[in-house]
Amino acid sequence: MKATAKAHTNIALIKYWGKRNDELILPTNNSLSITLDGFYTTTSVAFKQDLTEDTFLLNNTPIVGEQHQRVTSFLNLVRKLAGKELYAEVKSMNAVPTAAGFASSASGFAALAAAASKAIGLNLSESELSRLTRQGSGSACRSIFGGFAEWQKGARVDGSDSFAVQVAPKEHWDIRVAAVVLSSKMKKVSSRAGMKRTVESSPFFKGWVESIPADLDAIKQGISDRDFQKVGEIAEANCLKMHATTLGANPPFTYWLDTTVTVMQTVQQLRDSGIPAYFTIDAGPNVKVLYLPQYEEEVKRTLQGIPGVSDVKLSKVGQGITFLEDETLA
Ligand code: DP6
Repeated sequence: MKATAKAHTNIALIKYWGKRNDELILPTNNSLSITLDGFYTTTSVAFKQDLTEDTFLLNNTPIVGEQHQRVTSFLNLVRKLAGKELYAEVKSMNAVPTAAGFASSASGFAALAAAASKAIGLNLSESELSRLTRQGSGSACRSIFGGFAEWQKGARVDGSDSFAVQVAPKEHWDIRVAAVVLSSKMKKVSSRAGMKRTVESSPFFKGWVESIPADLDAIKQGISDRDFQKVGEIAEANCLKMHATTLGANPPFTYWLDTTVTVMQTVQQLRDSGIPAYFTIDAGPNVKVLYLPQYEEEVKRTLQGIPGVSDVKLSKVGQGITFLEDETLA
């Protein structure tokens, strides 16, 4: 009863920001992301008769406390679905540099859901797997799919219609993402806590939610047409709207540092000089820059040259879940 799965992280172009049900992780809006080939998690899960609790090893280090609890709670869902009471040995290797500001929870929960459901004998479709993954971390449900994926918020109270679907496979369009890592760190408000505070107190939240359907329609058309300018403009504006909601929260907060704004301005200057590039930012200070392959050298050089930037990591569009046969992790 053992399986190993690999999942890539993703970056949202239309952000998931707000829940209508915290426990089931049901969002207030649809979101759309690119799965990234450069950043991934590989996880082995082995259910065993002789275990008295779940164990979790991350990058060869035993994990206890809150992170262990999140894994156990998620495995409880898997056990319930399978009708089996067995505990599991979970081993994960993260190739998602935490410093790059990607939520490793996206690739982490996608790999865990895939490996655990296979190991326990559930034969889930991709939609079922996405729906299960969602309950570990919302954004993770998009990582089941490669290429471009949309998380459909669904309407039912039990969340049965809330999962991701593929919008286009990775072969559809070779666009690139540069993850700009800043030297100074700050993450005082987690994405989970930040979106909750925003939903509960920001007067801008209503406007955010109302603006999503038009953004989604337009970006899907842009992806279908491979219209980089259109996709970039919508993604950048959507990111700015999401971050604007945090300034209206009580107490107000922002994820940006001074260097965050400098990187945003540099991306705008790149455009002024004729290089199409657009930014997006998640619940942290680091910036992700979308660009086309032919401008890679120039984009990288420019971003690396910004004072306060410690690293620039490049990625292509990645694939969805894969299962590994050689069980080196377990
Ligand atoms: C800003 O998926 O980390 O990255 O569902 O509470 O685990 P939980 O939140 P999480 O939130 C991600 C928010 C975001 C936008 C996005 O990825 O769509």
